[in-house]
Amino acid sequence: MSEPDKGAHYIKTALEAPPSSEEAVLRPTRFTDFTGQHKTIERLNVMVGAARRRNDPLNHILFSGPPGLGKTTLALILGHEMGRNVRITSGPVVEKPADLAGLLTNLEEGDILFIDEIHRIPKTVEEYLYSAMEDFRLDIMIDQGPNARSVRLNLSHFTLVGATTRSGLLTTPLRSRFTLQTRLDYYGKEDLLKIVRRSCELLEVEVDEAGAREIASRARGTPRIVNNLINFIRDFAQERADGVITREVAVAALELLEIDARGLDEMDKRALRVIASNYNGGPVGLTTVAIAVGEEPETLEEVHEPFLIQEGYLQRTAQGRVLTGKGYEAIGFDPGSGKPLQQSLF
Ligand SMILES: Nc1ncnc2c1ncn2[C@@H]1O[C@H](COP(=O)(O)OP(=O)(O)OP(=O)(O)O)[C@@H](O)[C@H]1O
Ligand SMILES: [Mg+2]
Repeated sequence: MSEPDKGAHYIKTALEAPPSSEEAVLRPTRFTDFTGQHKTIERLNVMVGAARRRNDPLNHILFSGPPGLGKTTLALILGHEMGRNVRITSGPVVEKPADLAGLLTNLEEGDILFIDEIHRIPKTVEEYLYSAMEDFRLDIMIDQGPNARSVRLNLSHFTLVGATTRSGLLTTPLRSRFTLQTRLDYYGKEDLLKIVRRSCELLEVEVDEAGAREIASRARGTPRIVNNLINFIRDFAQERADGVITREVAVAALELLEIDARGLDEMDKRALRVIASNYNGGPVGLTTVAIAVGEEPETLEEVHEPFLIQEGYLQRTAQGRVLTGKGYEAIGFDPGSGKPLQQSLF
């Protein structure tokens, strides 16, 4: 599939839904388009600049960090900046060494292979990745028993870009084969505000300063959430107001979505409430909390918890999760007694 008027094109695997046209419009395609993550951008600029000057393929790069912060976006930007193809796949899709061989032998010199959720790549496949990344060759065993023999496939000098929400789950040998390992952090208020303005402009939605600030402050530091909120609030502004996103319109729309002034959603607050009321503020194991709120432990850990910890609502200790004073306040509990401030509300 090729993107019109852009240098790079990419091939999607069956698992990846094609990007909606709005997502394609909103996704930055150049470093200069990309707001925030200054350290990561600086590092990438150095690598891209040097590789281009030497006319060399880019070295392997690993992005880690919570969902929606721009890992896939950056992989595609690298393709544009290098003027190379980006092939996209995902850890669980590469089931067998033969799948990996199929992908790698189709790459040309300098092409980028983007493996999303790289921590979920099966161990049997991971071992083949080592020699592919290091020596650009694959030694594949064919046949079994006495006929077994190994066939060497020489590969083009490609670039592996990996993304993971759980860098801790990556094995050391795999991690160490990436020249650059860089972590994306939640975005600050000003960067989010820039992204709100940019997205509204691209979608031709009118938003005033206070409306934009309201969206930025409730987006959990995450560009994907910014874009999702804008989409909903735009509809809300059309149906319930005169189409302009003002502060009042944004607040009313966000109330309808049950996203509070801190950006916490229902699941965040349910998790905090369970720890407060059922477990006296903890420590309590993540799986126990997940069962109590009816969510997958992985989702709780990868999507909800990082933000709650970063913002100081929750602490992760060796014994389990512990609610902080700020965590109690967020759900309207008294940090002193650990009881709800207004019984009727909960
Ligand atoms: N720095 C940024 N400036 C503007 N928009 C951004 C930025 N980073 C991400 N976005 C927008 O946020 C959306 C989500 O980004 P992206 O898909 O790259 O996240 P991700 O880290 O790959 O998430 P996941 O872990 O879920 O795959 C994109 O559609 C893009 O438009
Ligand atoms: Mg992604």
